[in-house]
Amino acid sequence: MSVLCNVEGRLVPPDQAVVPVLDRGFLYGDSVYEVVRTYSGRPFELDRHLARMDKTALRIDLTLPPRAVIVRELQRTLEAAGNPESYVRIVITRGAGEFGLSPFLARGQNRLVLIVRPLVAPPEEQYERGLQMAIARTRRNPPQALDPALKTGNYLNNILALREAHEAGADDAILLDLAGRVTEGTTSNVFFVQRGVLVTPPLSLGLLEGVTRALFIEIARTQGLILREEPHGPEALAAADEVFMTSTLREAMPVTSLVFLESHGEQVRKVADGRPGPVAKRLRAAFREYVERTHLRR
Ligand SMILES: Cc1ncc(COP(=O)(O)O)c(C=O)c1O
Repeated sequence: MSVLCNVEGRLVPPDQAVVPVLDRGFLYGDSVYEVVRTYSGRPFELDRHLARMDKTALRIDLTLPPRAVIVRELQRTLEAAGNPESYVRIVITRGAGEFGLSPFLARGQNRLVLIVRPLVAPPEEQYERGLQMAIARTRRNPPQALDPALKTGNYLNNILALREAHEAGADDAILLDLAGRVTEGTTSNVFFVQRGVLVTPPLSLGLLEGVTRALFIEIARTQGLILREEPHGPEALAAADEVFMTSTLREAMPVTSLVFLESHGEQVRKVADGRPGPVAKRLRAAFREYVERTHLRR
């Protein structure tokens, strides 16, 4: 089991994995990235992740290496790391080029870096307990600025929200948009159940289209659940029958309490009776069946 990096084709341990300080990913967050995990050692939904990376790269006009190169280097690094299950971070920066902000100074000189680590999935006990999510004061940047639909290396907005959450003792943060509507978590999407209907914020508010979000929407529909993509304020989360977050690493993780940081005295509100609800559990089980069906059996 090891943490192994791939810097432009060189396989090295993390302490030898370096990029030049003039790299634009380092200087400006001028990069795209994806996080993929393996099930039974095989990358899960890699095509969807790489399609999302293509979309982001197109929107910021960053030229990616050919997909075959990314996939080949990913397989090579996974095999060399030899972990039973891995977390993989794929980073492609706009490279170094001449010093200066203009992206035209580095046209075409991208840099591919992969980081493979042994997967640390949340413990089952966390699914039994659920998360406490803070409703952050830091707002999600609007789509008209750096569009949250883009998965770039510039995560400072989310880092600020996560810092607020951790300062308040919460596990993670949910960000509202400028109009006070729920968007998403710092690295996850949010769903809630309201009188039997599953609700998630629409992409038009400005949020990342999670690969897991899309899968859970598909699974919920095949399970016969009514699903609505509609905007709501954070009060709707506090009044919901259950709330859960989805992401590559968390699958579907229940939220059992909320901390409203904008209220006086950091008001804590339980979600329903403060215990995980049945819908997240049922959908996660169906998700696991999907993984089994589509992925594990060759
Ligand atoms: C801001 C944000 N939203 C949602 C997600 C969940 O996306 P996925 O399900 O593709 O992991 C992530 C994942 O990193 C994220 O960074």
